[in-house]
Amino acid sequence: MYSFKNDYSEGAHPRILNALVESNFEQEEGYGEDRFTLKAVELLKERIGRTDVDIHLLSGGTQTNLTAISAFLRPHEAAMAASTGHILGHETGAIEATGHKILSIETEDGKLTPAHLRTVLDTHSDEHMVKPKLVYISNSTEIGSIYLKNELVQLREFCDENQLILYMDGARLGSALCSSENDLMLSDIPRLVDAFYIGGTKNGALIGEALVICRDSLKEDFRYHLKQKGALLAKGRLLGIQFLELFRDNLFFDLAAHANRMAEMLRTELGKAKIPFLTESPSNQIFPILPNALITELQGKYSFHVWEQVDADHSAIRLVTSWATKEDKVAAFIEDLKKLI
Ligand SMILES: Cc1ncc(COP(=O)(O)O)c(C=O)c1O
Repeated sequence: MYSFKNDYSEGAHPRILNALVESNFEQEEGYGEDRFTLKAVELLKERIGRTDVDIHLLSGGTQTNLTAISAFLRPHEAAMAASTGHILGHETGAIEATGHKILSIETEDGKLTPAHLRTVLDTHSDEHMVKPKLVYISNSTEIGSIYLKNELVQLREFCDENQLILYMDGARLGSALCSSENDLMLSDIPRLVDAFYIGGTKNGALIGEALVICRDSLKEDFRYHLKQKGALLAKGRLLGIQFLELFRDNLFFDLAAHANRMAEMLRTELGKAKIPFLTESPSNQIFPILPNALITELQGKYSFHVWEQVDADHSAIRLVTSWATKEDKVAAFIEDLKKLI
């Protein structure tokens, strides 16, 4: 059985494991004040091209989203997200449990536009309703689409005009930035959003997300928020060591590019076999639509999510490739699929 279920089925890139082993007996300060974390933060600032941002390393995506969003919002304020957004459907109400409503927005492709946000603002006009304040987007999105620079510029302008906070969940930012359709650089992001995170967990790290806070007013006391939410790790060094290794050279981008290449191989070959897709997704997640009987056959050899029923006889499946996906397994999947067709 080979898995295309997600991009965290494997452990960590060997270079990360080596870095952890090599530093194992070094004595360090706790709670993110160790030399590795301090160095990783400096390196990330260099890569981002901004020394005036605050960077905090956390262990997972849900933890990062709930810590950041609850810290950024006042009690009566709400987040807005695409209905497919991860915070809405897949985080067990973690944001809501901090007291903030999430206003759900239907979209075509998982991406928010100013027009979507305008509708929400127009229907939330006074103190008898929550106040929409934070725009949650993810790049890539839950359905594999990516934001182009111009789309983010438009969101930025709208947020500025309406005093909104723009927050980008970057659990799969590596894949988005390495997409063949991407026109955004890592260094563009801090001037377009107020805060974002760079996902390590789904791109070769054992665990770890690097939260970058760009807007000054959101920075204050963030370490208190981290501690209160259980996100300030005594052995924070483990996160620092991993991000140091990912960004020491091009490893972070090389790993994401590999995942994308594997997805591209699947996309191209399935396309040649005239298999339709639920959505355009130029990243490491693809959503081919297949006959249900064929899906059952494939499940004998491969694991993947059945994403959505399309009609009585067809469903979309989600295939996710990772930094560690093997090319021969992708080729074998394509061969098996062609035989079944
Ligand atoms: C876009 C996005 N954000 C956040 C998360 C949550 O990450 P975690 O499972 O580490 O809490 C995921 C997980 O799949 C995700 O895809």
